[in-house]
Amino acid sequence: MNILAFESSCDETAAAVVRDGRTVLSDVIASQAEMHAVYGGVVPEIASRKHVEVIAALADRALADAGLTKGDIDAVAVTCGPGLIGALLVGVNFAKSAAFALGKPLIPVHHLRGHIAANYIAFPELTPPFLALCISGGNSMIVDVRGYTDLSILGSTRDDAAGECFDKIARVLGLPYPGGKPMEALAEGGDPTRYPLPRAKVAGSAWDMSFSGLKTAAVNLVHNAGQKGECLDRRSLAASVTAAISEELIPRTVEAARQLDRRTLVAAGGVAANKTIRADLERACREAGLRLFLPPLKLCGDNGAMIGAQAYYEYLAGVRGGRSLNAYATLDIAPVPWAP
Ligand code: KG4
Repeated sequence: MNILAFESSCDETAAAVVRDGRTVLSDVIASQAEMHAVYGGVVPEIASRKHVEVIAALADRALADAGLTKGDIDAVAVTCGPGLIGALLVGVNFAKSAAFALGKPLIPVHHLRGHIAANYIAFPELTPPFLALCISGGNSMIVDVRGYTDLSILGSTRDDAAGECFDKIARVLGLPYPGGKPMEALAEGGDPTRYPLPRAKVAGSAWDMSFSGLKTAAVNLVHNAGQKGECLDRRSLAASVTAAISEELIPRTVEAARQLDRRTLVAAGGVAANKTIRADLERACREAGLRLFLPPLKLCGDNGAMIGAQAYYEYLAGVRGGRSLNAYATLDIAPVPWAP
């Protein structure tokens, strides 16, 4: 089954053709990151307008790269949330029109379910059940994946997401947006113990996390050093921030796996590209006897292939988007409003 999939939840317009959930025939992305970098973050209206400009051409490219024509497409999939509402609406409306014009089913996909499904592309042997650590620019959560479309959140951030924390601290350090990758480069050779940063304890849940205290502490540290004219060891601050984020994420996830007796862990989302977090996950999983799947770097960030992968399993579960399908800025990973 060939699914033409679209992703436009933030600042990447992406289209892909995926066969039977696991084989990527094409995967094209138009990133707007450079455009937003001058503002230090994504400007929602600019994002929506750029999606409108490029999405039709990307659909053509995805078909051409796959060596297919419109007649070879069996279904159309699209991210319906969570994300920037104007940006999502562009993808939803385009995909809806494409499905209507082709006379094929439309499959709505939750963005984070897509991030998790990126692992199905990279690892043919991966099947649920497993735990997923989803760490992106807008979300951080530990998800119990009992089945391809049977998911539940075990813990999530009470405030900022891990990626947002990287981005905001990077900004006060004068690094470009998005700040995760530049922070990773800056942290290289830094001393992760040089700056003692707070680790959050979240009342009422062992698996919920919080990043806002860490973010504020790091931002204050930079501002105070500036005001006092003190020299800041920027490399060590970046390394200390990374260590604190890693510690916020990994022990909770491993403990959740232990308590639920899950033997497999997967990482998902843009922050899963971080070298230190990947190495820490590898170490923690080795020590806990867990099987770990880390998506290749190109599948960590937003892409259309991951939406096409998840869409296949949603289709098998009977999920269809009707003519009135909408987009959702906030959206639980389960239950989704279009569940059959
Ligand atoms: O998954 P993603 O591409 O988009 C969302 O769905 O949010 O994640 C983007 C986030 C940004 O916050 C970005 O700074 C972060 O992922 N990121 C990283 C790295 N690469 C991207 N964070 C830490 N280290 C990286 N290497």
